[in-house]
Amino acid sequence: MSTNNKGTYYITTPIYYPSSDLHIGHTYCTVMADAMARFKRLQGYDVRFQTGTDEHGQKIQKKAEANGVTPQAYVDDVVSRILKLWETMEISYDDFVRTTEPRHTKRVQEIFMKMYEKGDIYKSQYEGLYCTDCEAFWTESQLVDGKCPDCGRAVEPAHEEAYFFKLSKYGDKLLKLYDERPEFLEPESRRNEMRAFINQGLEDLCISRTSFDWGIPVPIDEKHVIYVWLDALSNYITTLGYPDDKAEYNKYWPADVHLVGKEIVRFHSIIWPAMLMSMDEPLPKQVLGHGWLLIDGGKMSKSKGNVVDPVMLIERYGIDALKYFLLREYTFGQDGIFTNEIMLKRMNYDLANDLGNLVSRTVSMIEKYCGGVIPSAAGKDEFDEDLENIAVQTADKVNAQMDKFSFSNALEEIWVLVRRANKYVDEKMPWVLAKDESKINSLNTCMHHLAEALRVVSILIYPFMHSTTVKIREQIGIDGAIVWEDAYRFDMMGGLKVRKGDAIFPRLDIDKELAELEALKPTPAEVEEKLELKPEIEFDDFDKIDMRVGTILEATKHKDAKKLLVFKVKLGTETRQIVSGVAEHYKPEELVGKKVIVVANLKPRKIRGEESNGMIIFADGDKKLELVTSEAPDGNPVC
Ligand code: MSP
Repeated sequence: MSTNNKGTYYITTPIYYPSSDLHIGHTYCTVMADAMARFKRLQGYDVRFQTGTDEHGQKIQKKAEANGVTPQAYVDDVVSRILKLWETMEISYDDFVRTTEPRHTKRVQEIFMKMYEKGDIYKSQYEGLYCTDCEAFWTESQLVDGKCPDCGRAVEPAHEEAYFFKLSKYGDKLLKLYDERPEFLEPESRRNEMRAFINQGLEDLCISRTSFDWGIPVPIDEKHVIYVWLDALSNYITTLGYPDDKAEYNKYWPADVHLVGKEIVRFHSIIWPAMLMSMDEPLPKQVLGHGWLLIDGGKMSKSKGNVVDPVMLIERYGIDALKYFLLREYTFGQDGIFTNEIMLKRMNYDLANDLGNLVSRTVSMIEKYCGGVIPSAAGKDEFDEDLENIAVQTADKVNAQMDKFSFSNALEEIWVLVRRANKYVDEKMPWVLAKDESKINSLNTCMHHLAEALRVVSILIYPFMHSTTVKIREQIGIDGAIVWEDAYRFDMMGGLKVRKGDAIFPRLDIDKELAELEALKPTPAEVEEKLELKPEIEFDDFDKIDMRVGTILEATKHKDAKKLLVFKVKLGTETRQIVSGVAEHYKPEELVGKKVIVVANLKPRKIRGEESNGMIIFADGDKKLELVTSEAPDGNPVC
C-alpha cells in the first residue's frame, strides 16, 4: 500500500432491495465500487466503502405475505444470501447497513424530526398515482403511456393522510447547485434531465404512508411509516453516526461519490440534496449514474426467466474472470448487452490468451534459460527500452482513466502493456538468443524485462482482480505488500526465483461452455413454477366468493376521477352500479353491451363518492386490462 496519506474517500453503492436474490446486474455496481475502493486504498486514501440493503416498504411486505412469513424473516433470509454473495465475490466493503438495524432506524427518526423542526415537513392529504414496485408517487404528466416511467408497470390512484416534505422550496437551490458545481452530477445530459424535471415544477414530496406498516414509524404520529426513499437515502449518514454521534460523520462526510444506477439518479440528485439542505448539512461531492446490463433487449427479470446468477458464473469461471469481464466490457454510464458469448470471448481472449499466456511463457522461459532465477538487466536495445517505457507510464494512464470512472479504459491501458509484452517476446525471440552464447546479456535483459512487466501488471490489476495479483506474484517469486509507487519502477526483480504454477486462466472451449450454459437456463415450465402466488387458501375461502355473469348496460366517466368508469351491470333480475379503475384502458362506449364476470357478493363501498356494488373481473394483459367474459345467461354463477 502507498505510504502517502491522501485523506479520506467515502464511496457508496445503492442499498439493494432484498425482495429477491441479486442478479449479475446488481453485482455490476458493487464490483465497480469495490474496484474504486481498492484503487483508492492503494493510492493511500483512508477509504470508507459502504453498501447494504433497503429493507422496508410495501413491496417487501407484500412479498413476505405472499410467502407466508413476517417481513423481518423474509428479509433476514434474502440478506443472508446477499452477504454470502459479497463474501464469495470478495467485496471489500467497510460497512454493510441494513435499514432495519436500530442504529439506522432511530437516526432516520431523528432526521425526520430535524426536517420537521426546520418547518419543512407538514401534514396534508395525498392524492396521486402510486407505483408499488418503485414505491414512488407520480403525477399524471410524468407517466409514460399511462404507466410508471421507471419500471413501466401500472400505477394505481392512491390517497391518504400523509406528511409532506417541502421539496418545492428547494427547486431553485438545486438548479443553483447544478450550475455552480457541475461535477455534482455527470454527465451533462443527466444534469439537463434533472433541470428539466425541476423546471416542470417540483411538487412537495409525500414522505409518510398509512396503507402498510413495514417501515420506520413517524416519531410524532405512529400510525404513519416513513416513506422508504427518505429512510433509504439517510443510510449514507446514519451509519456515520449522524446526527447524535458525529465523530465518523465529521471524518467522512461529505461522501466523495454515490454510485447509482441511472434510474435512481433522480432520487440522489434531487431528493437527497434537498433533504441535506433542509438539515443544513454538506452535500455529497458527486452522484454518478451507471447504465444497465441488458439481456434479450431489456432488463433481467425473474418472470422472464432470464436472470443471470453471478454465483453460478463464479463457480464456473472464477471471481476474477467475472469481475474483469464486468469492468472491461461495459462503458461506464451506458447500457450494455450481456450474452454468454460476449462474456466467454472476453475471458478467453484477454485473460487466457493475453495475460495467462504471458505469465506461463515468462515463467517457463526463466526456468528453462536461467535456472529459474530472474536475471538483472544487462544492456538495453530499442525493444527493451520500449517495453520499459510503456510499463512505467501505464500507472499514470490508469490513474487518469480511474479519475473518470472509466474502468474499461483503465483495464485497456493495462492490456496495452500485456499485449506489448507478448509482442516483445516475438520480437526478441529468446529461443534464438538462447542458442548463441554471445547473446546472453540480451537474453538476460529479455527475461528480466518480462518479469518486471509482469510485476508492474500485478500491481496495476490489483484493484480489479486482487487474487490474480497474488497468483502472478507467487509465480514470479515476489512476496510482500503491493505498493502502487512500485508500478513506476523497473528494477526490482533481479535474483528472485520463479515458481511455475497452474494456468491462471485456463482456456475455455467456447462452444462447449455455451451449450452447458444454455442447458442450465430454466425451462419455461420452471419459470412458471416460480410464479409468486398469494398464500394458499382453503376451498371454503374460495367458496365464499359468489361470481356471476352479467351484461354492461351503461358505462360513463366518473365525474371527478379520471381513472374511474361507473357501470350499470345487469345480473339476471337485478341491475347494479359498479365503479372500476379502467378508464385508461377503455372508452365507456367500448364496453356497453359486453358480457362480464362480476364478484357479486362483495360488500358495497363508496369509491370517490359513487356507490360500487360488486367488482368486474379483468385480466392483466401487461399493456391493457383485458375483459374476462362468458356467453352464459346473466345472473348465472361462475364456478
Ligand atoms: N433500494 C433502492 C436503492 C436505494 S439507495 C438509497 C433500489 N434498489 S434496487 O435493488 O432496485 O436497485 C439497486 C441498484 O441495482 C440500482 O442502482 C439499479 O440500477 C441496479 N440494477 C438493477 N438491475 C440492474 C441491471 N440489470 N444492470 C445494472 N444495474 C442494475 O433501487
